[in-house]
Amino acid sequence: MQTLVGKKILLGISGGIAAYKCAELTRRLIERGAEVQVVMTKAAKEFITPLTMQAVSGRPVSDSLLDPAAEASMSHIELAKWADLVLLAPATADLIARMSAGMGNDLLTTLVLASDAPIAVSPAMNQQMYLNVATQENIATLSRRGMMIWGPAAGEQACGDIGPGRMLEPMQLVEKCEAFFAPKPLIGKSVVITAGPTREAIDPVRYISNHSSGKMGFALALAARQLGADVTLIAGPVALTAPQGVKRVDVISAQQMYDAALEHAVTHDVFIGCAAVADYRPLSVADQKIKKTTDNDDMQISMIKNPDIIASVATLTESRPFTVGFAAETQEVEAYALDKLQRKNLDMICANDVSVEGQGFNSDSNAITVYWKGGQKPLGSATKTDLGREILLSISEHLTQA
Ligand code: C5P
Repeated sequence: MQTLVGKKILLGISGGIAAYKCAELTRRLIERGAEVQVVMTKAAKEFITPLTMQAVSGRPVSDSLLDPAAEASMSHIELAKWADLVLLAPATADLIARMSAGMGNDLLTTLVLASDAPIAVSPAMNQQMYLNVATQENIATLSRRGMMIWGPAAGEQACGDIGPGRMLEPMQLVEKCEAFFAPKPLIGKSVVITAGPTREAIDPVRYISNHSSGKMGFALALAARQLGADVTLIAGPVALTAPQGVKRVDVISAQQMYDAALEHAVTHDVFIGCAAVADYRPLSVADQKIKKTTDNDDMQISMIKNPDIIASVATLTESRPFTVGFAAETQEVEAYALDKLQRKNLDMICANDVSVEGQGFNSDSNAITVYWKGGQKPLGSATKTDLGREILLSISEHLTQA
C-alpha cells in the first residue's frame, strides 16, 4: 500500500463544493506514504476549513501570498520547488481560467507559475460551466502546455444538474497519483516523432498543404516524455508549443522532414510517423510569384511524388528503430491499415477513421486501434492526450518483448 512513500504532493484547493472531498483525498494520500502540503484559495476556505485540512495533512495550510509569518517558514518560491507533483483538486472554472491566462493573483496561481513540477488539474464545476467554450478552450490550453487533466467525471451534480463536471472521487485521484509516480517504462529509450502537415511550395508566396493540426503528434511527444523517454519532435508548420523537455526540430517541406527524420531515426529507439506528409510536390518551384494571365483560364501544376519518409525509415538496414505509422482513413479502416503495415514494413500502425465528425484532423479527440503483425488493440475514443499515452504504452510493451 505504501506506493507514494516520500512523494511530495502540493494539493491546491479552489472554491468548489467538491472541496469537501479533499480531507478524504489527503488522508488516502498520506496513508500511502505521501507528504501533502495543502494550499487553499480564499474561496476554498468557504467550503472546507483550513483547520480540517491542517489536521488531516499534519501541516499548516498555506493560503496567503502576503503573510510574513508563512513566508518566513517556507516562502512561496520554496513551496513551489518543494513539490514532486502539484495536484489542483477541485480546479474550478475560475482557477482554470486564471492559470490559462498565466495570472499570479493569489498564492495558488503564483505557485503554479513558479513551479516546474508536473501539474495535474482535476476540473470540478457545473456541467454548463464545464461545457462552456471558454472553459473548454482554457482546459485545452493547459493540456497543450503539458498539464495533466484528470477528469471530470459525469453524473449528478450538487446543483441538481446531470452532466460532466464532477470531480473524480478521492480514490480515483489517488490511483492517478500512483500511476503518475509508477515506474516510467520508457526511461533510457529515445523516441522521434514527426507531426503536423508539410508545405510544398509552388512559388515564393504559395504552397500546397493539408489540414493536419499536429495535435496528435504533439500529444504523443508529451506522453513519451511523461513515460520517461528522450523525445525529438520533427514538426511541420503548426501553431503548437512543444511540451517541456522535448527537443523540437522545425521543418516546412516533405523533403526537409525526410532529411531530419532520416538523420534522427538512426539514433533513436522508436520512430513514430504521425505527420500528414504531402504525397506530391510541384515539380519545380517558380522563382517569382506566378502571375494571373488574361488569355487562359487553365493552370497546370506538374507534381512529383515525395519520398515516403516512414517507408524509408522502416527499410533501414542498420540502426533501424521500432517503426510506428499512422493510417487516417475514411473507409475500410482495418483493411487499409493492415495493408500499410505490411507494404511499408512497419512494426505497428495506429488507425483511425477520420470520416467521423469531431474526430481526427484538427479535433482534440480521436478513436484509434493499434495493429501489429499478428495482433491488435482497440484503444477506443478518447482525447489525443490519453490516446498518446496508450499508444506509447503499447509501444513500450513491444519494446520489452523484442
Ligand atoms: O500512405 P499514407 O500517407 O496513408 O501513410 C500514412 C503514414 O505514412 C503515416 O505514418 C505518415 O506519417 C507516413 N508518411 C510518410 N511519408 C510520406 C507519406 C506518409 O512518412 N511521404
